[in-house]
Amino acid sequence: MEPVPCSFASIAAFLFASNLAAVADEPGIPVTDPIVLAKCGPCHIRDGHGRLERISWSRSTPEGWQSVLRRMILDHGVSLSAVEARAIVKTLSNLHGLAPAEAAPVRYSPERRIQQEANIPNEEIGNACAKCHAFALPLSWRRSGGEWKQFVTWHSASQKFPASDESAARISNVLSKIAPLSTPAWEAWRNRDSSDLVGRWLVTAALPGQGKYWGEMQVERTPNGDFTTRTVLTSIADGSILARTGRGMLYGGYAWRGRSSGAAPVDGVPGDPLTEAREVMSFSAATTSAEGRWFWGQYQEFGFDVQWRRDSAAPVLLALDRSSLKAGSQGNRVRLVGYNFPAQATPADFDLGPGVAVRAIISCTPRELAAEVDVASLAPLGKRSVVFQGSMLPDALAIYDRVDYVKVSPDSAVASFSDSAHAKGYLQFESIGYQRGPDGIMHTADDLELGPIDVTWSLQLFHAPEDSGAAVRVGTLNAAGLFIPASESPNMNFDVWVSATAKNEKSPRGRALVGRSYLVVTPPAYTLNGRLYVRDLDRWIDDGPAQRGKP
Ligand code: HEC
Ligand code: HEC
Repeated sequence: MEPVPCSFASIAAFLFASNLAAVADEPGIPVTDPIVLAKCGPCHIRDGHGRLERISWSRSTPEGWQSVLRRMILDHGVSLSAVEARAIVKTLSNLHGLAPAEAAPVRYSPERRIQQEANIPNEEIGNACAKCHAFALPLSWRRSGGEWKQFVTWHSASQKFPASDESAARISNVLSKIAPLSTPAWEAWRNRDSSDLVGRWLVTAALPGQGKYWGEMQVERTPNGDFTTRTVLTSIADGSILARTGRGMLYGGYAWRGRSSGAAPVDGVPGDPLTEAREVMSFSAATTSAEGRWFWGQYQEFGFDVQWRRDSAAPVLLALDRSSLKAGSQGNRVRLVGYNFPAQATPADFDLGPGVAVRAIISCTPRELAAEVDVASLAPLGKRSVVFQGSMLPDALAIYDRVDYVKVSPDSAVASFSDSAHAKGYLQFESIGYQRGPDGIMHTADDLELGPIDVTWSLQLFHAPEDSGAAVRVGTLNAAGLFIPASESPNMNFDVWVSATAKNEKSPRGRALVGRSYLVVTPPAYTLNGRLYVRDLDRWIDDGPAQRGKP
């Protein structure tokens, strides 16, 4: 054991020794980075193999490491500058990170997506570890068996949830099987060369309520090895242009964490797409493409779904102005956007699959093609790819006979009133049309998604209180499906149905097609089933590290 300077830290290390002692049940990951040794070493003792207690038997995502750092600052008085914290998160995400295949299943967590979790291995773990937070939190970690045991035992004590020794052992045992320290995926990934992102990337982005955007992003490297970005996006719906500049870092060779914003965000318009956004993107193994989400809002409720792909000299089809066409429809005007389109195109340059034919090219510019498309009445129904001169957009077009129902996304959600410490929590709803699919039965897995459809939005309160003014007090839903909570918080929860009634589509019997979502509108701090919940903004390390006593 190396000598430890006598300081607050070393006293803390002594006091907490039982929680800190390494189990060393596996070879572990030696730590050589000077800043980790300097900042973590005072308490996490280094052994003769260069391994630091606890840290050498743990791997996680950038978010996992930043959350630990935050806790070390708050619980153990560790002092870190923003620069040091960022450097430590970076080196630990690189050397004690997850392989892309390990991070992908829990991507929804850093991307702040609302998701039903289907990854909980058994009921005992579900009840123990997916009640206070998403199961994605433990699944964002990899630990040795002994390290899991130590974590679960300590966590149940500190979070005051009962876990008997037997139960803690069973849970740790399962966790060490589904989230083990050593994996072939990590062995194969860990020694990879770092990737260079510099150059031009082609971008597609979809913003719920606003539709699709496409464009490009220029990436440059900064002297310290991070990146700056300049992105220009065009709305397919109305041609408006969004210019954003930003910066970002690449963790573990594939995990992009950045920020960008538009030049002149318009204050006070909720969901304004020029607002500063956090960017969470995951690159493919070969670093030729990436996907993820750029999000903002008090609860990250606004966000683009984004794809990047490397620029090329050949024609690249990026998006269509629609996602479905009706069988038996003639002369549909379809716009295709992308890059490097030739000066002239002919119908023979397209392949839209059986029964769908390009009748004429209306216009052709390097970035946009307009074509007239006929769909035979017997064209096979379902999704199909669209090909233009060898560039393919997979599953870009759904051929359907009629819209059978409307689904509102998300199908259940929470929005929040504001208070002195919290901005409003908005919610953007989307109405998606569906066809019943090959089995002829609605609401089954084979149903065909047709993309957004035109609807009229409305709100209905459950158990509406006596005075009918309550609906007004809860908030309003605008024509684009954005729920705006009322400005005055009536200090209680409201249960609301959000309904979307299709404007142009009806059932075969002439009934209106209506989709619904279940919305709970709460004050920022509320009680549910006897537990107090505080909806709060999580913080990213770029916001500056947490201050002691001021999380
Ligand atoms: C002042 C002493 C101290 C310093 C410095 C310190 N830690 Fe800790 N750390 C602890 C103690 C005590 C525990 C065990 C109790 C607990 O988890 O809070 C711990 C536990 C941990 C754990 C395991 C528990 C978990 O939540 O995953 C990790 C990982 C960790 N520390 C990482 C770090 C890193 C990285 C640094 C350097 C930035 C660091 N620590 C610096 C005291 C310290
Ligand atoms: C009683 C509520 C509660 C239960 C039950 C619970 N946790 Fe947690 N957990 C928390 C809270 C609160 C945090 C955030 C702690 C913080 O950041 O200070 C957390 C954080 C975590 C983290 C992230 C730690 C980090 O710093 O990244 C992991 C991993 C985790 N929990 C795993 C588990 C596992 C495994 C179980 C089941 C054995 C479990 N949790 C059960 C409340 C709970």
